[in-house]
Amino acid sequence: MKIDLITLFPEMCEAVLGESIIGRAQKSEAIEIKCHQLRDYAFDKHRRVDDTVYGGGMGMLLKCEPIALCYEAICEQRGTKPYFIYMSPQAKPLTQDKLKELSEKENICVLAGHYEGVDQRIIDEFIDEEVSIGDYVLTGGELPALVFIDALSRLAPGVLSNDECFTEESHYNGLLEYPQYTKPQSFRGLEVPPVLYSGDHRKVDRWRYEHSLINTAKKRPDMLENRELSDDEKRIIQEALD
Ligand code: ADE
Repeated sequence: MKIDLITLFPEMCEAVLGESIIGRAQKSEAIEIKCHQLRDYAFDKHRRVDDTVYGGGMGMLLKCEPIALCYEAICEQRGTKPYFIYMSPQAKPLTQDKLKELSEKENICVLAGHYEGVDQRIIDEFIDEEVSIGDYVLTGGELPALVFIDALSRLAPGVLSNDECFTEESHYNGLLEYPQYTKPQSFRGLEVPPVLYSGDHRKVDRWRYEHSLINTAKKRPDMLENRELSDDEKRIIQEALD
């Protein structure tokens, strides 16, 4: 997976993406991420990336030309047209299913907006899809872009080790993850459920599945609304909620 990020704050983004699992994945070349300074593509007299809004109103908008030139330069460098995503609070909030779908793309370019947003002609003519990280508004698109790139990158082959595998975690199969415990077995009188150190793997798997269901029913019942539940599953949930 190759990701290009267009931003006014490439150093900040590189610093975040250079750490921990995503940093390691870049070094091992499981993913490639390049941050591009939008200002480098502003060629007017004052090298402006933003301007006032036609029709009046507060704030500034990102101008068309620097974004168009930057994206075209990325297309040239990559030898293809990356799927172009604009981080915007106007889109449907991101889900794990959407991330799974987007992780199939080999080339993605992300535009982190700033100020009041971006000229509509960029959205109409260049952007393939808008992505929001939730129904709230941040001061700029960098943090949303970093959240999105982190969540997307970890789905690329070779990014997570077996221990960090995403197939058992919350949201992967439409359920939240089961509770987990580490040593010691007893902490201030609080005990680890004995089945988890019984050595019986079938029982451990069964316990984990049941507690995934229960956890989801308690914390996110909306996630179960469109799921076909067996009588056994309904009973497990009912008993836990009683
Ligand atoms: N820019 C500002 N707020 C945002 C959000 N919630 N998601 C994506 N981009 C944004």
